[in-house]
Amino acid sequence: MKITKICCIGAGYVGGPTMAVIAKKNPHIQVTIVDINAERIAAWNDKDVSKLPIYEPGLAEIVEETRGKNLFFSTEIDKSIDEAEMVFISVNTPTKTYGKGKGMAADLKYVELCARNIAKVATTDKIVVEKSTLPVRTAQAIKSILHNTGSDVNFSILSNPEFLAEGTAIQDLLNPDRVLIGGESEEAIESLAQVYGSWVSDDRILRTNVWSSELSKLTANAFLAQRISSINAISELCEHTEADVNEVAKAIGMDSRIGPKFLNASIGFGGSCFQKDILNLVYIARSYGLNEVADYWEQVIILNDHQKRRFSDNLISTLYNTVSGKKIAMLGWAFKKDTNDTRESAAIYVADHLLNEQAEIAVYDPKVNQQRIQADLNYLNTRTEKENEELVTTFDDPYKAIEDAHAIAIMTEWDEFKTYDWKKIYGIMKKPAFIFDGRNILDKTEMENIGFEYSSIGK
Ligand code: UDX
Ligand code: ADP
Repeated sequence: MKITKICCIGAGYVGGPTMAVIAKKNPHIQVTIVDINAERIAAWNDKDVSKLPIYEPGLAEIVEETRGKNLFFSTEIDKSIDEAEMVFISVNTPTKTYGKGKGMAADLKYVELCARNIAKVATTDKIVVEKSTLPVRTAQAIKSILHNTGSDVNFSILSNPEFLAEGTAIQDLLNPDRVLIGGESEEAIESLAQVYGSWVSDDRILRTNVWSSELSKLTANAFLAQRISSINAISELCEHTEADVNEVAKAIGMDSRIGPKFLNASIGFGGSCFQKDILNLVYIARSYGLNEVADYWEQVIILNDHQKRRFSDNLISTLYNTVSGKKIAMLGWAFKKDTNDTRESAAIYVADHLLNEQAEIAVYDPKVNQQRIQADLNYLNTRTEKENEELVTTFDDPYKAIEDAHAIAIMTEWDEFKTYDWKKIYGIMKKPAFIFDGRNILDKTEMENIGFEYSSIGK
């Protein structure tokens, strides 16, 4: 099938950047991204590209170049679906918050609604591509919904998981390690391979069956998260011995079988994918009665929760066992640098823990606003919205956030934190002035020479 029009359902962190790059590299294809969230679509259409709903280095430039030419953002979902030969499903699949599988399984409500909508409005044959990360065998469910419409429209279902990481999404999309396409119909697979073929060499486009493709995505995220939990486990051991986790990471990373990436000890991984996908994997394994497999992967999450808890416990015990009424400045709220995404960010859980101990929290993040921070805390339901508002203040100026603080907690590895005037910061803090570097980005000797009581992860 020759693709001239693509529709992507879901204008989020995956759909937005992916479609922008597809549009840039395929000027002959009209790409329309649709969403039920009209406010989000309006933000994508904002003339001022600094107001796009998602911040990713390089994204605004591509949107500026392609928007209105062959990239469109719209709320006309039905029309865009029917016009397209290829429809991507790129909606969110959060962990279920109710019923069977609560807290573990992926909630497929949004995906199913999309499939039903496609079935309802399609009048011509379509290739339907699942882009959202989904449990194994979801393609089968989508297929069943689409094939029971009673119409004579033909649907081919493909699984095409996205491996981009936030903060580097555009680079990851432009130079992917691999593109994975799972499906039954060779013709449909080749149609999608051609779209990517505009900029990705064919040897990097893997064709598999649908189930391998779905499981590969969950497995890739589980392996990556496992590496972080592994180094974080070692970081605790380092803190009890004379070893330094950075030195250990470097030493093991030089073994070419292990490799140097993803070995940064931290306050724990966040983001919308790792925890959700592992919980999903654990749930699937348990549902087949594979308890040892489930327990094995669950440990990655248990260790990650422990790491976040350990960080705040250490902060509290260092501050003479009480943070009640003390101002703690948190630098960074996003789950990693170069993104405004805060989903599952360790900062949320550390703040919540400190708030339970009656700390007063001052937050500065270069890309995250007050509204988001309050919403993240309110979502936990630990205390009333009013209490969160009273205890947590957000600042646009890091020095104001830090002024008169008893301690600084570095939650995100934003580059700008390294360039601050740390002597000046020491001057405006309460003494002793503590720094808890959850990302190991500052130099211990330099900080101690200024006068700080500095502690980091795994040293
Ligand atoms: C991840 C996968 O990398 C990506 O392939 C998939 O498509 C989506 O999930 P993302 O969540 O955007 O991407 O970011 P990633 O760079 O993987 O970081 C996840 C979390 O792990 C962040 O909180 C990050 O700070 C943390 N991390 C990462 C560490 O703590 N140490 C590391 O060495 C690397
Ligand atoms: P991701 O990180 O997977 O891209 P996001 O939450 O950033 O997730 O984006 C998913 C988008 O999908 C949201 O903007 C949401 O409004 C949209 N969405 C969810 N369900 C539907 C639906 N049935 N039709 C259209 N858009 C939807």
